[in-house]
Amino acid sequence: MSHESLNTTELDAPLKQIIYEAGTFARKEFLNFSSNDIEYKGKNDLFSYVDVQTERILKDRCRELLPGSGFINEESENEPGTNGYQWIIDPIDGTTNFVHGVPFFSISLALYKGEEAHMGYVYHVMADELFWAIRGRGAFCNDQPIEVRSTPELAHAILATGFPFKDFSWADDYFQMLKIFMERSHGLRRIGSAALDLAFVAAGRFDGFFEYGLNPWDLAAGALLVTEAGGTVTDFDGGNSYVFGGQLISSNGRIHPEMQEVIAKGIGQNV
Ligand code: IPD
Ligand code: CA
Ligand code: CA
Repeated sequence: MSHESLNTTELDAPLKQIIYEAGTFARKEFLNFSSNDIEYKGKNDLFSYVDVQTERILKDRCRELLPGSGFINEESENEPGTNGYQWIIDPIDGTTNFVHGVPFFSISLALYKGEEAHMGYVYHVMADELFWAIRGRGAFCNDQPIEVRSTPELAHAILATGFPFKDFSWADDYFQMLKIFMERSHGLRRIGSAALDLAFVAAGRFDGFFEYGLNPWDLAAGALLVTEAGGTVTDFDGGNSYVFGGQLISSNGRIHPEMQEVIAKGIGQNV
């Protein structure tokens, strides 16, 4: 398929097959995983052969599906591509959960042109839930349309975040901000996969999610899910620099100003 004929509807079914194939591999390895196979890129930065091999499956198949497209991915060299499109891939989002036997991890795969998202897929492997969105066509979980929840204010919201785990330079400000969120909402969750956090915002399970220190592959697919499900995604300043900017607020839209205000009081000025 050449880029002149890019048709996201046509790509959807083969992409789902690719994700299910990668998911079948990851699920089998999760059920047999030995902690002897944990490797480290740095302090608290874990990976294993499963991350590497799952990425290989995804890249090989996506390369066949759309020749000439580039790759931005976690486990191997990025590739610039020649047709303007990039696959943004996190083969296992939630590796710390994965290697500890906690069944909350996902496969995150998105197709972008520059900073514009065209397709986004987040597969919650152990629950067999495939969240997906195509630009302008809505968001879905398996075959069901999904939308953000209409919670009107922070006081009635449940939120998710990702705790700092490698860079603790702003941890004090961050914990101060968590205290404000705890006091002003129904509570906070940390499930350990940013892609799943975003999928859960899109599906109305969480009202909002925020994190800093993210990479494009953590959020590229999930951000499209949220916007296609009727929600809002911004950076901490309310702008659009979230895909490559490392910090993100996502919400049902209604509670977004309150979330932004609390974050600005905490770490907003510092990261
Ligand atoms: C991580 C997860 C985690 C988030 C981190 C990410 P990884 O991705 O999404 O929830 O807090 O910021 O790096 O390393 O498991 O692919
Ligand atoms: Ca990740
Ligand atoms: Ca990963």
